[in-house]
Amino acid sequence: MERKHLREQNRFSWNRVVGAHDSHRGDLAGFLRAGGSTLFPEELELLGDLEGKALAHLQCNSGGDSLSLAVRGATVTGVDISDAAISSARRLSKQTGIPAGFERADVYDWLEETARAGRYFDAVFSSYGVVCWLPDLDTWTRGIAAVLAGGGRFVLVDFHPATDMFDESWKHARAYPSGGERLFLKEGVGDYVAESQGGLTPAGFAEGARDFKNPHHGYLFRWGLGEVVTALAAAGLRIATLKEYPYVNGERPFSGMRELPGRRMVPPERVPAVPLMYGISAVKN
Ligand SMILES: C[S@@+](CC[C@H](N)C(=O)[O-])C[C@H]1O[C@@H](n2cnc3c(N)ncnc32)[C@H](O)[C@@H]1O
Repeated sequence: MERKHLREQNRFSWNRVVGAHDSHRGDLAGFLRAGGSTLFPEELELLGDLEGKALAHLQCNSGGDSLSLAVRGATVTGVDISDAAISSARRLSKQTGIPAGFERADVYDWLEETARAGRYFDAVFSSYGVVCWLPDLDTWTRGIAAVLAGGGRFVLVDFHPATDMFDESWKHARAYPSGGERLFLKEGVGDYVAESQGGLTPAGFAEGARDFKNPHHGYLFRWGLGEVVTALAAAGLRIATLKEYPYVNGERPFSGMRELPGRRMVPPERVPAVPLMYGISAVKN
């Protein structure tokens, strides 16, 4: 598939940042062992009962969410392009004793190979900063449809494309995303876990890496919400739920964000409501 080299460049950028992110997570293994979960209510509501289900967690990063899903009774396969993220996820699985399989692969290759091998899942899940790394929505959604068992469900929770229109100080600075427009990320993937000031570290925030600089640039792809939904429908998936949320879980992408209980961040009072996250549940009939 074309643009593979852009995704490989992103792999370098992610490999470099994973250690910095993990350095802030505190005793995540102990937190999970003690029954803690890194998941938010939005994805849990969309996923529903996971007991006994085979679940593929795409772009799983360091595996905290994958293991939290496994604790809920799913047999989890986590997939990520980053070697460092998959090593970290396997380590976390070992440290916690929570079983899950982790496979290092570009999501496009994995979906194609998994469908070819006749492996099927009851649920496919992906969340929080995933669509922006995908240069082609139709191949992605067709791939997901191909690995879902009949009656299976795809759940996506991601940052709303409307958030991409504003600069850090809430000024309307960029056009609404569309067409997968490529964005050169000169500074590479940054240390957003540090910037979240505890929002992404449910086990407690550790100081960890300071002043992280990524030597590897990256590429993002700007898609609108309508394009994501249309690609899912075109792949034959029935949209069961589409929710837009006026808050964001964990991250603090803008200045003056106020933190509500449950690591839920809302804009300052002077900013009228904007959709900051969305959630989709789509079913293979
Ligand atoms: C912001 S993180 C997602 C957060 C994750 N859900 C979590 O629980 O922490 C984005 C992930 O996408 C992965 N990624 C980016 N491009 C990818 C690709 N082409 N195939 C597979 N994974 C990819 C990155 O390595 C990174 O781990």
